[in-house]
Amino acid sequence: MAEPIIDWILSGIPVPVDVKLFNDVSFIYEAQLAKLELSSWWNNLEEFRKRAAYYETVNGGKTFHYFISEIKGKGQIGRTNQYLTHWYYPYKAKFHPQMVKALINWMGLRRGQRLLDPFAGSGTAMIESKLIGVNSIGIDIDPFCVLMGKVKTDLLDIHPDSLTKIPMKTAFEFFETFKGKTHQVELTKFVEATSASKSPFLEADARVHEFFLLSYLYALSDFTYIQKDMWKAFQKNTSEIMKSVQMFHDLKTDLNIELGTTEIRQGDARFLEHEGLPRGSIDGIVTSPPYSIAVDYIANDLHTFKYLGIEADILQDKLVGLKGKHEDRVRIYFEDMEKTFQSMFNVLKNKAKCAILIGDVTFEGTRLPITRRFIEIAESVGFRLIDVIRRPILGGFARLRYEYMILLEKPS
Ligand SMILES: C[S@@+](CC[C@H](N)C(=O)[O-])C[C@H]1O[C@@H](n2cnc3c(N)ncnc32)[C@H](O)[C@@H]1O
Repeated sequence: MAEPIIDWILSGIPVPVDVKLFNDVSFIYEAQLAKLELSSWWNNLEEFRKRAAYYETVNGGKTFHYFISEIKGKGQIGRTNQYLTHWYYPYKAKFHPQMVKALINWMGLRRGQRLLDPFAGSGTAMIESKLIGVNSIGIDIDPFCVLMGKVKTDLLDIHPDSLTKIPMKTAFEFFETFKGKTHQVELTKFVEATSASKSPFLEADARVHEFFLLSYLYALSDFTYIQKDMWKAFQKNTSEIMKSVQMFHDLKTDLNIELGTTEIRQGDARFLEHEGLPRGSIDGIVTSPPYSIAVDYIANDLHTFKYLGIEADILQDKLVGLKGKHEDRVRIYFEDMEKTFQSMFNVLKNKAKCAILIGDVTFEGTRLPITRRFIEIAESVGFRLIDVIRRPILGGFARLRYEYMILLEKPS
């Protein structure tokens, strides 16, 4: 990116700072985020080098993001997405990890403080906060998302040798025996390594069992959508992620990366206090609410639900965005989001920040004024609006669409 952008980013920083952006930083929103993250950390550049999202170097040294995003995953574009464990399962509604990291930096969250994502999905925010030593809690109503988020964050802690102890073929065959039978096994028992009969995981860490279960579900998804042979897909994906885990393990040792702790559990974003989160206990929130008003997640993942024995009908009633028909669906969506905004406000500490990411949503041919409504709702429950950043989403059917980052603060 041209020099004037760096001048713009550095304007207002009271001391001289030696930084270089990644070469692939090319959008205005990326420069905006680069400025925001630096504005919160210019007075501790050594720490900033460990957590910066959009910079290749800080004070002449390569950033940790440079090394981490070199551990490349399937379909990775530049430094923004799919690196490390982010690619592990083709979940459609993920947000950009690099962007999330910059938002956590903007919030100024320090090591040991706690971030919340009440719509945790595949766990992107949890992975990014873990990497910069910030503790996090993820809540999602969908038990499959909970599994996904747990595996993807656990893989950052786990020793790679524990994954190679069980032969891949044995793991694959074990999960194959449950196909079409999981309704006979309660889900909770099924996902607990120790209670499944004839399990090769009896002696293993429960995280290893969950890892192979997700690997199996990944192969099932490849089979469902692209008719890939399941065993071949399982072998390929599993070997590739194992390489990433090994590379990260080595990097963690070389750079002495101190990871944050992660807790991911099933719960309802509309009632966070009932989910065991006390009032005023959270230091920051990054989240992207369901787009399910436009995208039917249940239909997308039906094969997984069938395999795991999850009752899709029961889940559908609790998912924000899928209740009612036509204008009722839009009304119920905003009512549910109002409950969620109130609930997020309650669990946040005073002066804590909250970033909400939401895309343009077209429902039954009409573009919903979703960003404006979210801002109105946020202000009505007591949040203060700090800024809105717009990000273009390119691709798809060559339509230009936007995603908005609504930046909020809970006043003291
Ligand atoms: C847009 S996705 C989040 C994706 C996430 N940011 C990521 O990077 O993977 C929204 C998520 O909200 C979850 N969800 C829907 N209704 C919910 C509710 N009432 N409580 C908690 N989670 C809910 C869905 O299961 C889905 O995983």
